[in-house]
Amino acid sequence: MSAYPQAGAVVVHGGAGASRDHEDACVLAARRALAQLEVKGDALEAAIAAVVALEDDGRLNAGSGAVLGLDGATVEMDASIMDTRGRLGAVACVQSVKNPVLLARAIADTPHWMLAGEGAQRFARAIGLPESLPVTERQRSQHRELMRQLAGSVPAMPGVDNSLFARTWNYNSPMLLPEASACDTVGAVVRGPDGHFAVATSTGGSAPSLLGRVGDSPIIGSGFYAGPEGAVAATGIGEHIVRHLLARTVYGWIAEGAPLDQALRRGIELFDPDVAVGLIAVSRREAGACSNRDMPQSRMTQR
Ligand code: GLY
Repeated sequence: MSAYPQAGAVVVHGGAGASRDHEDACVLAARRALAQLEVKGDALEAAIAAVVALEDDGRLNAGSGAVLGLDGATVEMDASIMDTRGRLGAVACVQSVKNPVLLARAIADTPHWMLAGEGAQRFARAIGLPESLPVTERQRSQHRELMRQLAGSVPAMPGVDNSLFARTWNYNSPMLLPEASACDTVGAVVRGPDGHFAVATSTGGSAPSLLGRVGDSPIIGSGFYAGPEGAVAATGIGEHIVRHLLARTVYGWIAEGAPLDQALRRGIELFDPDVAVGLIAVSRREAGACSNRDMPQSRMTQR
């Protein structure tokens, strides 16, 4: 595809606002992606291998580490995949699936590009994807901390009065106050040695959130985008990211020829500093990351 063959490149992130202590998870994920690239040369398979590793880590807000809903029991997850061979799949608000990114990949082979909720879950069962692992003590303790925060006066979600969650509550169980907010996503972007690009993302969504909430991660052009000039993945608070169609906007600047660092920085500068946001991207010649919070990440290039 590329008139200028480049070495394959991988960039992985573990979420804007996640601890840099978890960077080892990103390094492992990037290694898995590079190994996959060596074996198959398929950028999408490599991006998915990275995101599966991040979903299985348990410390990041995706897959086995996804945040609990406000009821302290429900886990709803979103994921997406896209590449320049035309593969596009997303899943929104799915429960009880160990690796939502694999479900997003499988959805790309259905007549649709996105499945949500119960239908997505049934499809996952039908194709034999493993169910989620049991909720961990780490997830429970995150939930306790969030409820403590919601009971206070500092907004748990920037710009939103905490009492709005009580007034619009839609879980089956009552809201129990009291007892850290999260908005991180995991993601990977890959440039294949053949010039193809791919992106994959996965998230447990932002916390706090009402039942059925969907963020930017499964929305094409907002949380993810891949085109002939590169691939972009976003992380942060979906309610803000979708308003800027962030991934497609940044991709547009890259496609117009902006240096990658400049395009990423310009994307972050669209947001108020109160709003956690991060970006990773690959272009024909570059690979990079930028965020306004700590963001565990790893970048690797084929030799
Ligand atoms: N970026 C993750 C979310 O808002 O759901």
